[in-house]
Amino acid sequence: MLKIGVLASGRGSNFQAIIDEIENKNLKASIEILITDNPSAFAIERAERHNINHMFINPEDFAAKDEFFKKIADELKSRGVDLVILAGFMRIVRKPLIDAFPDRIMNIHPALLPAFPGMHGQRQALDYGVKISGCTVHFVDGGMDTGPVIIQAAVPVTSDDTEDTLSERILSFEHKIYPEAVRLFSEGRLEIKGRKVVIKNHSAVISNIVNPPIDETDA
Ligand code: GRF
Repeated sequence: MLKIGVLASGRGSNFQAIIDEIENKNLKASIEILITDNPSAFAIERAERHNINHMFINPEDFAAKDEFFKKIADELKSRGVDLVILAGFMRIVRKPLIDAFPDRIMNIHPALLPAFPGMHGQRQALDYGVKISGCTVHFVDGGMDTGPVIIQAAVPVTSDDTEDTLSERILSFEHKIYPEAVRLFSEGRLEIKGRKVVIKNHSAVISNIVNPPIDETDA
């Protein structure tokens, strides 16, 4: 069974979505540990509710960032973790962790990459004026949201959206596609070819495209 390690800094709703899929038996995996860089992350509370081991690793205890990531890699390795899930982990992952888990670290980003990488993907989309945004699950390669794309969901942007309303709409799709990407990985159906991820038996993948609503005044 796939052994997962989760890194989170805050709320942990994507972490929760993965817990729920495992508990509902839609995902054959076990979460070996939650590691946080924030002792008051709400994700810790979620781990406790579901009897998942958790650990706070204080970045300030390390003289160099690479040492912090080496410590994370060591903790994950010592628990036999196969796949690392970044779930709202607010740091750019560095080489010691990436080298320890090549093509085995996933992240979720609240925009349709390569559009609007980095912080506040939803606000960037609103400010730019796009009509469709969404979310992306991708492998992590050391850049800022640059790794090979696994799956994406398109989400409409409406003219009265605020950052909060758009974030909420996108988040509901994050909770669908992140567990789905983990499931595809657990079934050995993700193959990385250069910067492309080929999904084997693609027809079985959920349809994740949403049509934008028609604005009645345009009709
Ligand atoms: C999500 O919007 C995710 O796309 C981004 O950080 C946020 C984390 O939310 N990477 P949560 O902690 O999973 O609720």
